[in-house]
Amino acid sequence: MEKKWWQKEVIYQIYPKSFYDSNNDGIGDIKGITQKLDYLQSLGITMVWICPIYQSPMADNGYDISDYYQLNPEFGEMKDLDELIEKAQEKGIKIVLDLVINHTSDEHPWFQDLLANPETSKYRDYYILKSGKDGQPPTNWRSVFGGSVWEPLKNTDEYYFHSFDIKQPDLNWENKEVREELYEMVNYWLEKGIAGFRVDAITFIKKDQSYDNLPADGVDGLVKCTKKARNQPGIEDFLHELKDETFSKYDCVTIGEAPGVPYEQYSDYIGDNGYFSMIFDFRYADLDVASGSEWFKRVDWDVLGLKKLIFTSQKEIQKAGWGANFLENHDQNRSISKYIKEEENRHFYSATMLGAMFFYLRGTPFIYQGQEIGMTNFERESIEEFDDISSIDQYYRSMKEGFSAEEALRFINLRSRDNSRTPFHWNDKKYGGFSEAKPWLGMNENYKMINAEQQEQDPDSILQFYKEIIQVRQVSEASDCLIYGEIEPILEEHPTIVAYKRKLNNEEVVCYFNFSSECQKVDFDFNNFDVLLNNYKEEKETIFEQTYSLKPYQALVLQKKGASNHE
Ligand code: NOJ
Ligand code: CA
Repeated sequence: MEKKWWQKEVIYQIYPKSFYDSNNDGIGDIKGITQKLDYLQSLGITMVWICPIYQSPMADNGYDISDYYQLNPEFGEMKDLDELIEKAQEKGIKIVLDLVINHTSDEHPWFQDLLANPETSKYRDYYILKSGKDGQPPTNWRSVFGGSVWEPLKNTDEYYFHSFDIKQPDLNWENKEVREELYEMVNYWLEKGIAGFRVDAITFIKKDQSYDNLPADGVDGLVKCTKKARNQPGIEDFLHELKDETFSKYDCVTIGEAPGVPYEQYSDYIGDNGYFSMIFDFRYADLDVASGSEWFKRVDWDVLGLKKLIFTSQKEIQKAGWGANFLENHDQNRSISKYIKEEENRHFYSATMLGAMFFYLRGTPFIYQGQEIGMTNFERESIEEFDDISSIDQYYRSMKEGFSAEEALRFINLRSRDNSRTPFHWNDKKYGGFSEAKPWLGMNENYKMINAEQQEQDPDSILQFYKEIIQVRQVSEASDCLIYGEIEPILEEHPTIVAYKRKLNNEEVVCYFNFSSECQKVDFDFNNFDVLLNNYKEEKETIFEQTYSLKPYQALVLQKKGASNHE
């Protein structure tokens, strides 16, 4: 693969509402990000992806946009964003924004006009409208956030389509005018000097035009809409056009949120002529629940299963192009709570082992805010404490499916998107130093122990180790190999060790990660290798024997001696 500038980046994802509150109204904001640029720079990241900051009624925390050209005043003004872009650039940090073009908010002027003039609005064809059948919605498809994808359009016998929430009507991509409006907007932001976009829910833009019913898959009589409204044939025309009219005119990075793409189609998405620079593969992030969006259908998993998912993904991406690797995001629970099953094993070693394991996979690594200090899930006692629409839906749906209220609460506590949306823990002061006012979302009391300030001062903290992980990828003898090298899994059948090699010409880096609380022997000729990274720091100078016992949750990264570090 030809080298691209974005392969070298380390991306930090910011959920702006919960990062840092600069004006003490309990809500994080753009100035808050600017004020924390030193922190980001010292971490070593090179690019920031900010979740949506546009004008929005915030039904889905910004993924419901009511004006693509304005910012949500709670987050700040355009001059604050300009300042952020400029100051970040001075520190070598690029800014990527979120692009939400599958749907708008129902409070967008286009949709408002449609509501006001259902029969005559010039925006009728901007959304997807259909008549009901015998008093029933046009199809039996279920939206991602529960209930029918169809919502009656007031004072008419028509319905409008929403893949996600009722307040997020889908745009009609079949209409060229809509597409052109969107391209103009995308180019406006790219002209502004952002580095690119993370592209939301992009595999939803094409719907199966037959609008047929399918057999129900739940007690609600509905069926997941993804079978008919995600990654449908014909989407390739839209995606080519989107790229040609916008992204390809700029040297920008695009990160597609593209769930549901079969591996056979990956080269269309991320190949030489792909629609995006890279896409996220959710298969291993969603390994504990059925198809990602059914939290009450829990799936048991083990390390071998996790490993198979990771390596299949890596091999397929390697064949096709470039990947976007992540452990966490704003739609996921915290990784230490997910991947380390027992509470007593969630500690420095397991957090740093996880961090290094995903970081040296082939692809661009993404760190989600708080992951670098080992923030954990936050268990809530009642449904009232949740903000996330998806959590609330999953709670009631699981009870309809026959689970008790207690079980329903357990499912959402495990999986809720609010787990990762709690305010960032800056220090051990009230509200974790996030704000002086009560934050918009309740926070985990463990900020007193887990916080950035304390970890900055502790040389043996998770945060300090993340800095090392980043340095080793970005500015070490092994950088080229770790960035551009091929990946080759090793010990593929081992039940608890995840291990792989990265290779570039005659360079080689070997990575071992012990996912167990017990020592695990490995046979390896350590004499020919230097230690690049080891979370058992005291061991650094030890001369390893031929057979070495990996310590519990050890991360060991080794570089072959004597290879030149030039291609
Ligand atoms: C994916 C986003 O990551 C998620 O937060 C959002 O709810 C949906 N897309 C709908 O925009
Ligand atoms: Ca604020």
